[in-house]
Amino acid sequence: METDKPYLTLHVRLGERSYPIIVGSGVLQSAPAQLCALQPSQLVLITHPHLAQWYGEPLKASLERQGVPTCLLTVPPGERTKRWEVAGRLLRQMAQRALDRRCIVVALGGGVVGDLAGFVSACYLRGVRTVQVPTTLLAQVDSSVGGKTGVNLPEGKNLVGAFHQPSLVLIDTDTLKTLPHRHFRAGLAEVLKYGIIADEALWQLVKDESVHLRQGHSPRLADIIYRCCEIKANIVSEDETEQGVRAILNFGHTVAHALESVVGYGRLLHGEAVSIGMVSAALLGESLGITPVGTAEEIADALRALGLPVALPHGVEFESLLGVMARDKKARDGQVRFVLIERIGQARLPVAVKEKEVLHALSVHRQKFNPEAAS
Ligand code: GLY
Repeated sequence: METDKPYLTLHVRLGERSYPIIVGSGVLQSAPAQLCALQPSQLVLITHPHLAQWYGEPLKASLERQGVPTCLLTVPPGERTKRWEVAGRLLRQMAQRALDRRCIVVALGGGVVGDLAGFVSACYLRGVRTVQVPTTLLAQVDSSVGGKTGVNLPEGKNLVGAFHQPSLVLIDTDTLKTLPHRHFRAGLAEVLKYGIIADEALWQLVKDESVHLRQGHSPRLADIIYRCCEIKANIVSEDETEQGVRAILNFGHTVAHALESVVGYGRLLHGEAVSIGMVSAALLGESLGITPVGTAEEIADALRALGLPVALPHGVEFESLLGVMARDKKARDGQVRFVLIERIGQARLPVAVKEKEVLHALSVHRQKFNPEAAS
């Protein structure tokens, strides 16, 4: 671990596109200096109205005191904001301000703002720099790192986008204090995912801290976030555009994306869907003889201890889930692909799985983890 006191610093190593990730309590206080050091001509802060009030306005005032012209553009919270039309509006607002190639777009918010602002910066003048300042746990451990940007289409999530690495990621763990508990817990599903796919010690640490974490805090929180980012940084450095190993980050996501689509975005938070999806994927791995029997139960216990759901939502039809899975952009030739685990701490690259095997795993899931279905 490379430490740059008082904050933890690590690097995504991608040659001339390498960048640091700085993690710690109070990191936002250093944001004006960090941003000025990048010598932008102007800054564009893209955020939500309430975050603009808490963090955006003070940051803008501080940057302007240091002589950097800064504009604040706000977008409504929620997945519906991650739309082509909203991206177009932001791009026009930037063009109307005659921002040049040396401007920097700062994404201040959760995954929606990060993906949208990242996409806008990938497109504006064929690409300007971005700095990610994630304020949700999910964005801090996942979407702010690795350069995936994009918007949704009515036809599906993230169907338009670009790989566009940020120049810097600033993770202030203090911003999580104002995050609603349910959203914090949803982020914990992605945290546990890193342990399951790549690091048994992290898995153990999260389990040991689960009493604190489910309440929204832990003395080890910055270390945990750092370790998640470190795992992701190593994977992205090896496979930036998901030709191979990066796909293991999608553990639990095949079922999760289908659930979000069938149940409706918003009813089920992404992390909650991932929580349920990881149990399904572990059961599938068990029935295929790849995952040791009992692992799904172990994972479900750890997720429940963090206050996360593990049961398939009531009334969801397996046929609808399978339909969405087959249309998923990661499916190939209509075959559903799953990341499976060989044990806790070790994932295997995605494998194509037959529909009847997926259906079997979903039935076992319902049988074992939905008590009302067992009767
Ligand atoms: N969220 C998965 C990835 O960044 O590849």
